[in-house]
This record gives sequence, C-alpha cells and structure tokens, in this order.
Amino acid sequence: MPKRFYVTTPIYYINSVPHIGTALTTLAADALTRYDRMMGGDPYFLTGTDENGTKIAEAAAKAGKPILQFVSEMADQFESIWKQMHIQYDDFIRTSEERHTLVVQEVFRRLRDAGYIYKGEFEGWYDVSSETFYKESELIDGKSPEGNEVRYVKDPIYKFKLSAFSERLLEHIENHPKFIVPETRKNEVVSFIKQGLLDANVSRPNTGWGVPVPDDDSHVIYVWFDALVNYISAIGWPDGDWQKYWPADVQLLGKDILVRFHATLWPAMLMGLGLEMPKTLMTHGYILTGGEKISKSKGNVVAPVELAIELSNRAGICQDLAIDVVRYYSLRTMPYESDWTFTLEDFEQRYNTELVNDVSNGVHRVISMLHNFCDGKIPNGKVDPEAVQVFHSDVDEYSTHMKESRIDMAVAVIVRVANRINGTIDRSKPWELNKNQDPRLGEVMRSLAWMVRVLEGICRPITPTLADRIANLLNLEPCERVDLALDVSNLPSVHSINPPDPIYPRLDLSASKDTLKESHKIHDTDEITIEDFLRVKLRVARVLEATPVPDADKLLRLDLIVGAEKRQVLAGIAQQYQPEDLIGRQVILVSNLKPRKLRGFESQGMILAADGPNGEAILLQPDKEAPEGTSVH
Ligand code: MSP
Repeated sequence: MPKRFYVTTPIYYINSVPHIGTALTTLAADALTRYDRMMGGDPYFLTGTDENGTKIAEAAAKAGKPILQFVSEMADQFESIWKQMHIQYDDFIRTSEERHTLVVQEVFRRLRDAGYIYKGEFEGWYDVSSETFYKESELIDGKSPEGNEVRYVKDPIYKFKLSAFSERLLEHIENHPKFIVPETRKNEVVSFIKQGLLDANVSRPNTGWGVPVPDDDSHVIYVWFDALVNYISAIGWPDGDWQKYWPADVQLLGKDILVRFHATLWPAMLMGLGLEMPKTLMTHGYILTGGEKISKSKGNVVAPVELAIELSNRAGICQDLAIDVVRYYSLRTMPYESDWTFTLEDFEQRYNTELVNDVSNGVHRVISMLHNFCDGKIPNGKVDPEAVQVFHSDVDEYSTHMKESRIDMAVAVIVRVANRINGTIDRSKPWELNKNQDPRLGEVMRSLAWMVRVLEGICRPITPTLADRIANLLNLEPCERVDLALDVSNLPSVHSINPPDPIYPRLDLSASKDTLKESHKIHDTDEITIEDFLRVKLRVARVLEATPVPDADKLLRLDLIVGAEKRQVLAGIAQQYQPEDLIGRQVILVSNLKPRKLRGFESQGMILAADGPNGEAILLQPDKEAPEGTSVH
C-alpha cells in the first residue's frame, strides 16, 4: 500500500472564527500539499475543529445557544472561510463527531489496560483559555504563564503516566534530528523534559460536555488528550487503511502548543499505543498585531477574508485575487523562529513592491511585448540555455525550501524569479531588437514566455488564482507539474496567447486608508463603566526592598511603602529587572486586590506593567515623584 504524504494542522478551538494567525498554519499546510501534488506526490491534508473543551461549552453559553447548534455553526464558519481562502483539505475532522469520540475512548481504554492510565488526585489551577493545568508554583501574579485567568481545581482525576516516557522521548528527539524543527524549539522541549515530566491529568468531572471516560461517565476525557487523537481518528485507526497515512509526515503547529502537548503528551500517547512517531513537528512563531499575540479578548483580531475584501475594494481587484495577496503575504512573512508583527502598511507595501512591481508587472511586460512584437504568439526558437540553467537552480532551491517547510524562503525565490524576468527584459531590450529587426528577438521572447510559465508553476501552491490568471494570459492549461513546466520542450510554439491585462494594479498608498485601518484598530470588547473602573484602587507606592523568590526564576518579592502602610507584593518581573535597580523606585499598585499566597508568600496587591513586544514586563512609574499612597485614576 503506497504511503501518502500526510500533513496535519492543529484542530482549532471554535470559540471564535479564524484570524490571520490561525489561517497561517492552515495556509502553510495547503501550500505544502499543493506543492507535493505538483511534484507528482500523493498528499493528504487534514484539518478540523476542537470542540469538546470547557471553553467551548462556556462560549456556547455566552452566545445563548445550545452547544450542538453552536459548534455546528462555528465549524461551518471555519469551513466556509477556508473555502473562501482556497484551502484544499482532504478531510475536516470535528471532535464532536462519533468517528472521533469512539477512537478517543479506544485510546483511553488501551492505555488504561496497559497500565498507563490510573486514578489519582489533582490540586492546582486550570487555565480555561489554553485548557491547561498548572501547579501553584507555575502561576505568575496569580495568572497562568500565558497571562490568563486560572481557576482552582481539586478533584479525583485520571492520570496518564507521562513521567514513564521521559527517557524514551529524549532518546527519540536525540536520534531524529528532523523530529522537532526548528532546532531552537527542540532545545526548549529537551529542557522541559529534563526538568522532570509529571504525570498528566487526562480527565475532568463530567459537566455534560466532552467524551465520557470508558466505564466511568462521572468523568470526561481531558480536551487535549481528546484533541490529539484527531490525527489518528480521522484516518480510521485502529481499523481500515490508516497505515496508508500514518506516521504523519509533517504536523504543523504554533509554538504555544509544542512543548506540553505535541512534543511530550502526544508522542508518549503514541508510544503507549505502540504507534510510530510523526516524522516532523514543524513549529512556527506567532503573527502579532499591535505588539501582541492575536486574540479575541485583546481585541486585536485581523480577519483574513475581511482583509482581502478591503484590499479588493481599494485596489479594484476581484476577491479571489485579493485572497491570494493574503495567502502570499502570510506565507512570505511566515514566522519561522521568531514572531512576525503584521502591519497594514507592510502588507500594502509588499503588495505594491513584490506582487505589483515584480510579479504582475513582469508578466504584463512579457504578454504585452508578445503582442507588440510577435503577433500575439509564443514564437518558435530555442530558449536561452543560460536562463534554463539559472531557472533550474532557482526551482531546485525553491523545492529544497518547500521540502523543509521553509515556505517563507520558497516564496522569496518566487520574487527572485520575477525579478529575473524583469532583469532579462531590461538587459535584452526586445523593443530595440524589434526596431532593428534583429533575428534574436524570437529567441528572447520565447525565453521570456517560458520564464513566465515557470513563474506560474512555482506561484501555484502559494497563489493559485494568480497562477490561473498567468496560465490564462498564456492561453495554456494550468501548470499541474512544476517539473513539466521547467522542461522547455513542453512550451508550445507559434501559440496564440490572450490579450494583455494587468493582474494587480498599483495601490495608491497616499489615499485614505481609514477604512482599512479599521481592521487592525484595537477593539476593546467588554466595556466597563467609570464606576466599575473606580472600584479598582490604584496607588503610588515605593519599592523599599526587592528579593528573588527561591525556585521561581520569574518572581521577585517586593516590599513597598504605600502611605503609612507597608505591603509585600510578588511580581513576575525577575527576568527584566535586577532587584537592586528597583529599590527606591516608584510603582503603581492595585491596592485593593484580595491577598493571595504564591510560593509560600502572601502577595498583598499587584503592581502594574505593560506587556512588551515579546510579552516582557515594562513597569509603569509616575511621570514625576508623587507622595506614596496618592491615588491614581
Ligand atoms: N485546539 C488547540 C489545538 C489542538 S491540536 C490537537 C489549539 N487551538 S487554537 O485555535 O488556539 O490554536 C490553533 C493553532 O493556531 C495553534 O497552532 C496556534 O499556535 C495557532 N495560532 C493561534 N494564534 C496565532 C497567531 N497569532 N500566530 C500564529 N499562530 C497562531 O491550540
């Protein structure tokens, strides 16, 4: 049975619709599978939705809808957006489907019967937003390390013996250099495992939503254990022809869900089941907007289809071509190791320089000259052998990047190829050859037509509509195989092409952008009244003493003076501030926050800090000295 090239994305929480961050992973999987198909492969692309968590049940309640109705409507919206973005998946799995829940129960049953799952206890905290359990010591200022609210949990719980897999996981990572890419992420995983893996909680009390634990429906299976199983439930494991797909070739994911889930819990579950490891976990960074990870609660969402619609109105192009601009931009700037900050200015500028000036213009010049100098036909003759060599090596480089999931670098090759077309036109000056009736004209124009065909081929996995337009201008069938486009003998001779028609018009960047700006404005949801705000007592305080907290590398214990009172506060700022630099400094204190115990110390309030671009703390301080205890509004 020939194995298919199996590519997966994470399955998305459906408490809100996709934004450019979640679209990124799905676009990347689409580009990789389209590329594989164009190289003669047989790819299989799975995506879907993660529907069984607490946060989904809460989102449905908030929307005032029955859960089943809510999840179906949201899953439909995901599918509709992916279709509008021309994302061609082979299967879309929803974790509320029976084909999935039965497999989750089977996995649970097998791991329990093999002695890997046992009934234990958990006392700690739960972050509903990331659906993650945390120990008290992992909290920072009473919040999860991601900065989300947490709730206290003390329950009997089923546990999975994750700790038993530490050595095998380290060994696998060590022996398979391509298992976790990029390399920097691998180091994070290794140090997390080396700190000592604890057994993982894999159930929660049954509150009516989720997959019941086999033989104990007082519990449902923890949403992450449930969700990870999608990668094998969708291909029909343990029956049918799942071996045609498994192991997955590339599992794409964002950096937030690598360490605790895809690189530890998931492979350990597979080891417990006796299944092979996925070949590569390809982890990307975040797209940031307004300096932060995109999230509905932060109000900094940029929606991909809306972004395309606004561009299509402004540039006067059809929606499908505008979608390709979003696809192009997302993949061109795909954050590989670090994060990428999206700005509308950059989006528009890249549109004008790379898609309009380089790609669209290059194609338009060639098509126009074929009309002006060659009677609207691709002439006979031979293609410049030097160009053939250069283009072969460009396409090889493009392929290497695609095979390594470095889509950003592959897209850079597209720009380079477009520039080669423009450069060839500028150097060979076909208009002069035409004027002088130079016999080299045919060869030059044929070479240029061939270059445009190759450009169409390498664009196609990234920008399929743009590629169709180029094929149409050349009056050729869409290029289905990049290698065939490269073969000069496949380019027809004395072949009539279609009339010139510029694909992407230039965008006037000086024109009013107010409407577009709207899409990346900060929309703070959950308005509060001034009375609500005044309930929070903010006061100026001064740091008298700052001391590191043992075994907590992010925390500092601060002794503050506030008016006549002294307060002790724990703050997660140790990585940005040295204790000695804080002494004597004024800060802003939330003085009526209920005291909480952290790491054995009572924290009697919270000091205010802004989140820096990488989530680091930037302390707030009065513009000039103010008496300690002064209230702040
Ligand atoms: N449901 C889980 C995944 C379960 S997979 C077995 C989940 N869902 S999510 O909707 O919150 O995130 C899905 C993916 O989108 C993750 O890979 C996440 O990293 C990615 N992104 C979410 N916001 C993002 C950005 N702003 N930028 C880039 N990727 C982002 O986690």
